[in-house]
Amino acid sequence: MTALQPLRITPHFPVRRMDFSFGRTPRYWWSGDPFMTHFMNNLSSLFPYGEKFFVDSVRAVRDQVRDRQLQKDISAFIGQEAMHSKEHAAYNEYAAEHGIDLHRLELRIKVLMKWVTRLTSKKMQVAVTCALEHFTASMAEQLLRREDISLQMTDPRMYRLWLWHAIEENEHKSVAYDVYQAIGGGYLLRTSAMLVTTVLFLGVIAWFQLHLMRKDGQLFNWKTWKYGLKTLFSLRHGYVPGLLRPYLDYFRPGFHPSQHQTRELEKRWKQALAFAG
Ligand SMILES: [Fe+2]
Ligand SMILES: [Fe+2]
Repeated sequence: MTALQPLRITPHFPVRRMDFSFGRTPRYWWSGDPFMTHFMNNLSSLFPYGEKFFVDSVRAVRDQVRDRQLQKDISAFIGQEAMHSKEHAAYNEYAAEHGIDLHRLELRIKVLMKWVTRLTSKKMQVAVTCALEHFTASMAEQLLRREDISLQMTDPRMYRLWLWHAIEENEHKSVAYDVYQAIGGGYLLRTSAMLVTTVLFLGVIAWFQLHLMRKDGQLFNWKTWKYGLKTLFSLRHGYVPGLLRPYLDYFRPGFHPSQHQTRELEKRWKQALAFAG
């Protein structure tokens, strides 16, 4: 008779090792357009220290998590976010080669996150992570669903980087939220953290966008503003209007990130990008 083996628990998603090289990526890699390229540069400058904050906030409370499956998922979440930080740091070096200084913006985020860590409780930091993870998952889902927009990323390396990141943001979107619930986080703190985070997040994006456009001498290039604002905000075909409903969902008392079902979408994109697992 064979002894019963203890059940081996594996995480719900893998950590993929990536190593992007942007040596041949042009300066304006989004359809040759400055505004949209800088919008993506803008987002990329948030990731190295933003995602470090996500990891640190979850790591700081993981000793309170009893669920073994969730512990495995936390490890995979940390692995994925660490890989995103690394690859976006490489992205930011690409920008430096074109004379676009994202490093300075990265350091502003470092300072901002340091203040958030200094001034708030550990539980509040996880609540902020949940809010930002909801933003990244919703934005990523929209990018995966809207091929009319994602196909405007005309550089193949950037296309692959952003869609890889988008898949993984959806794969791990429940982890921080489950940790928040496991440490006794409630509705009021979660939603008030979302409101404060929204103001900060949108404020930072607007500030960085103006900064990047000004530094690049594009502040009065109306053609690129028109194209960029239409791509983002057009009521019929824009990227942002589709984010409103998922955003409001976050304020429902019974909300959970897994209610935004994206498994089939992730599967389709993993096949398209030839990812194993
Ligand atoms: Fe990420
Ligand atoms: Fe994430």
